[in-house]
Amino acid sequence: MIRIAVLVSGGGTNLQALIDAENAGKIPHGKISLVLASNDKAYALERAKKAAIPAISVKRKDYASQEEFDQALIASLHAYKIDMVILAGYLSILGTSVIDAYRDRMINIHPSLIPSFCGKGFYGLHVHEAALARGVKVTGATVHYVNEIPDGGKIILQKAVEIQEGDTPEILQKRVMEQAEWILLPKAAEMVAEKIAEEKAE
Ligand code: GRF
Repeated sequence: MIRIAVLVSGGGTNLQALIDAENAGKIPHGKISLVLASNDKAYALERAKKAAIPAISVKRKDYASQEEFDQALIASLHAYKIDMVILAGYLSILGTSVIDAYRDRMINIHPSLIPSFCGKGFYGLHVHEAALARGVKVTGATVHYVNEIPDGGKIILQKAVEIQEGDTPEILQKRVMEQAEWILLPKAAEMVAEKIAEEKAE
């Protein structure tokens, strides 16, 4: 069984989609074994507690440097014997040490069709504000592997979502979550967990 850590910063609706998918037997190769938040206030921590999943917070401001923060993250992930990491609305910067430790075993959900509206500064509502400002007719979500380039890793899954007349960033964000993010992330989690399980079995 592949032990999965979900890294969160906010409301945790993507974490909830993963929890619900696991409970519905849709992630047979993986088990969410840790929720790690970048702050103490993330509602995602409440969702973890309700689901009886171990939940901790590791805060960047508690560490003098990026490297010390990275090492604290790696220590936490190893303490819970984590095989695979999912970034689900996670906003802290990950240094090369963490990315190296989980290369090709760390995935992220981004609320646009990469390569549009991604990279530095494109997170949360900003992504949808940019899509509306550009006037695109279609947007969506992407799950990709995490590497050193923000939102630059190999794409795993994408799903398109129509923009509608009168959409606000908030309305669009909700539609992209409901019609794309919450569908793609559990699917990608199972695909990557199965791949890692096969590699471990070799
Ligand atoms: C949302 O903007 C979502 O589109 C992106 O991360 C943010 C928080 O999501 N993936 P969540 O509700 O904390 O999963």
